[in-house]
Amino acid sequence: MKPIQVGLLGIGTVGSGTFNVLQRNQEEIRRRAGRGIEITMVADLDVARAQSIVGPNVKVVNDARAVIANPEIDIVIELIGGYGIAKALVMEAIAAGKHVVTANKALLAVHGTEIFAAASAKGVMVAFEAAVAGGIPIIKALREGLTANSIQWIAGIINGTTNFILSEMRDKGLDFDVVLKEAQRLGYAEADPTFDIEGVDAAHKVTLMSAIAFGIPVQFDKAYVEGITQLGATDIKYAEQLGYRIKLLGITKRTDKGIELRVHPSLVPSKRLIANVEGAMNAVVVQGDAVGTTLYYGKGAGSEPTASAVIADLVDITRLHTADPLHRVPHLAFQPDKMSDLSV
Ligand code: HSE
Repeated sequence: MKPIQVGLLGIGTVGSGTFNVLQRNQEEIRRRAGRGIEITMVADLDVARAQSIVGPNVKVVNDARAVIANPEIDIVIELIGGYGIAKALVMEAIAAGKHVVTANKALLAVHGTEIFAAASAKGVMVAFEAAVAGGIPIIKALREGLTANSIQWIAGIINGTTNFILSEMRDKGLDFDVVLKEAQRLGYAEADPTFDIEGVDAAHKVTLMSAIAFGIPVQFDKAYVEGITQLGATDIKYAEQLGYRIKLLGITKRTDKGIELRVHPSLVPSKRLIANVEGAMNAVVVQGDAVGTTLYYGKGAGSEPTASAVIADLVDITRLHTADPLHRVPHLAFQPDKMSDLSV
């Protein structure tokens, strides 16, 4: 069976990570998906730079619509970001019958209802594992691993920039502005860091988790959003003395009055695991009625961690398009010849 063909819109940090990981782990990914996955076309405004990343065998254009119009392309990855052109392109890709994989939490949190309805009407998937907590497979955990549960609440550190800022302010006694610049230099912050420090990015992510966990429409406008800009070194120090760490948490919770959706700085007892999540790392705690408390920890941003999530979605979609029904559900890609002789 010929490989499934993927078109990539935007080859920045995550796009290049996606291309590289797909190349590096090509054989294992093919075995797990039941079919090869190839990025055969890329759209980026900087064609020369994009071509230097993907090499001569991939067609690079500066017009994203040329990718969507290509009948050979089965899946479109949208890594442009923002609400403007990205929304138009995602809607056009869906209308053209393409599956869409996106890391664009802002787009889905604000326009998700319209986008998912269009995808459902057209019979295509819009997959977004990379939109929430980067490399942590939290969307799949909520959708698949915890699917038997009535979810009671989710609380997470889902913005690496603000967690990095709070950690550095606490550890090194540095000022907010100094640490923000460092977070930007390290590439954690959004293009507009206001989204990070005002809690908007975390609110986008918790809105998406809430919709999955509680089966409600995507309603970013209903979220209470408060960032970390009002926090000073003194707040962090006093919290410490009282046995707490200040963390920016995204929280969604089932209550008698409905579903709560909120992002704000929270006092977390220092002994809790989540209080000890430091730097740009992310962690999500999910409380289900059957499973109890589960915790997911990992890198919430960055080139290859986010690529890991993008490719997981590509594999999911590819499994639906393989001839072998055994590949339609995740299975063991067992290779007896690779077993070591050592038995435990
Ligand atoms: N700006 C985001 C963060 C990047 O700091 O977590 C990943 O969504």
